[in-house]
Amino acid sequence: MRVFVAGGTGHSGSYIIPELIAAGHEVTGLARSDASAAVVSALGAKVRRGDLQDLDGLKEAAADSDGVIHLAHRQDLLPSGGLDAVAAAELPIMLAYGEALAGTGKPLVTAGSIGSPGNLGRPATEEDPALPAGDEHKGTLRVRNVVERAVVGLAEQGVRSSIVRIAIIAHSTTDRVGFLPTLIALAKEKGFVGYPGDGANLWNAVHVRDAATLFRLALEKGPAGSYWHAVEDGGIPFRDIAEAIAGRLGLPAVSVPHDALMTPGYFGFLTNIVTQSYPVSNLITRRTLGWEPARPGLLADMDNGHYFSAS
Ligand SMILES: NC(=O)c1ccc[n+]([C@@H]2O[C@H](COP(=O)([O-])OP(=O)(O)OC[C@H]3O[C@@H](n4cnc5c(N)ncnc54)[C@H](OP(=O)(O)O)[C@@H]3O)[C@@H](O)[C@H]2O)c1
Repeated sequence: MRVFVAGGTGHSGSYIIPELIAAGHEVTGLARSDASAAVVSALGAKVRRGDLQDLDGLKEAAADSDGVIHLAHRQDLLPSGGLDAVAAAELPIMLAYGEALAGTGKPLVTAGSIGSPGNLGRPATEEDPALPAGDEHKGTLRVRNVVERAVVGLAEQGVRSSIVRIAIIAHSTTDRVGFLPTLIALAKEKGFVGYPGDGANLWNAVHVRDAATLFRLALEKGPAGSYWHAVEDGGIPFRDIAEAIAGRLGLPAVSVPHDALMTPGYFGFLTNIVTQSYPVSNLITRRTLGWEPARPGLLADMDNGHYFSAS
C-alpha cells in the first residue's frame, strides 16, 4: 500500500514508518522543514514537503495515496489556545482528508486519546464512542470528541476511517517528553516521588512499538468507523509507577494529600490528569485485529533502566 503519514517525525511516527516499511508498504512522510525531511528520509520514507496548515496539500497527498495515517498535531497552538485549540485545529484537517478519500474505501487512521472514563464502573472499551470527562476536562474533551465523531462519521462517506486511542503513557527508549519523563523530572526536582492520596487511581500504558503495530493493523484491515485501544497495561495503580520511579532514583515515594496537589503543590497543572483513574480494556482491539502487544509492559520497561540512564 502507498501510505501517506503526517507526523512521521514524532515519537509514535518514528516507530510507525519503519513498521509500515518492514511490512512492505511504501511510505511518504509529511515534512515541514529540512530537519523533518532528513528524519523522514532516514526512516526510509519518501518526503512530501508541506504543513498542516496547507489543507489543499494534505488533500492532494491523501488522494495520491492508498491510505493515510495521521499523527501530527499543532503543538504550536498550545501556548496561546491550550489543548482546545490543538484539538480544534484537527477538524479541518480530518474533513480535508475526508474530501480526498470519500467514496474510495481507503483507510484513514488517526491518533486519539484515552480520555478519563469517569465513573463507568468498568474499564472503558472501544465501544464507548466519546469518553465522558471529569468537569476539569470537559472543554477539551468536548472538542476532541467533535473531531473523533467527524473521523468516525467519515465511514458513512466511504472512508475506512478509524481512531487509535493511545495510552496515557506511551513508552520507549526515545520517549523524551511524555508523562513518564515528566514525572521523573518532577521527582528529581522535588526530592521525592509524589502520588495522589492513596495512589490507587489507575493509569494505562503501551510500548510505542506495539502501538506502531496496531496502527499498521488498523490501516491494513480495520473496519470502517472503529475505535482501537493502543493500551497494553490497562490499569496500573499510580502508586506502583511512583514506587518504580522512586526505586530507580533512590528517593522516597510519598503520598501527597489532595489539598497539597495543586500549584504550588507537587503536581501543579498536572493535578487534574494525575488524580484521575483511567482503566481501559483492549479486548475488542485484540480480538478484531489480532493485535498482541509483545514489548515490555510499563514497569518492566522502567526496570530496563533507559529512562534513568542520565540520573
Ligand atoms: N501517550 C501519547 O503519546 C499519546 C496519547 C494520546 C494521544 N496521542 C496523540 O498521538 C499523536 C502522536 O503523538 P506523538 O507523541 O507521536 O507526537 P509528537 O512526538 O509530538 O510529534 C508531533 C508531530 O507533528 C508534526 N507537526 C507538528 N506541527 C506540524 C505542522 N504545522 N505541520 C506538519 N507537521 C507538524 C511534528 O513534525 P516536526 O518534526 O516538523 O515538528 C511531529 O512529526 C498526537 O496527536 C498526540 O496527541 C499521544
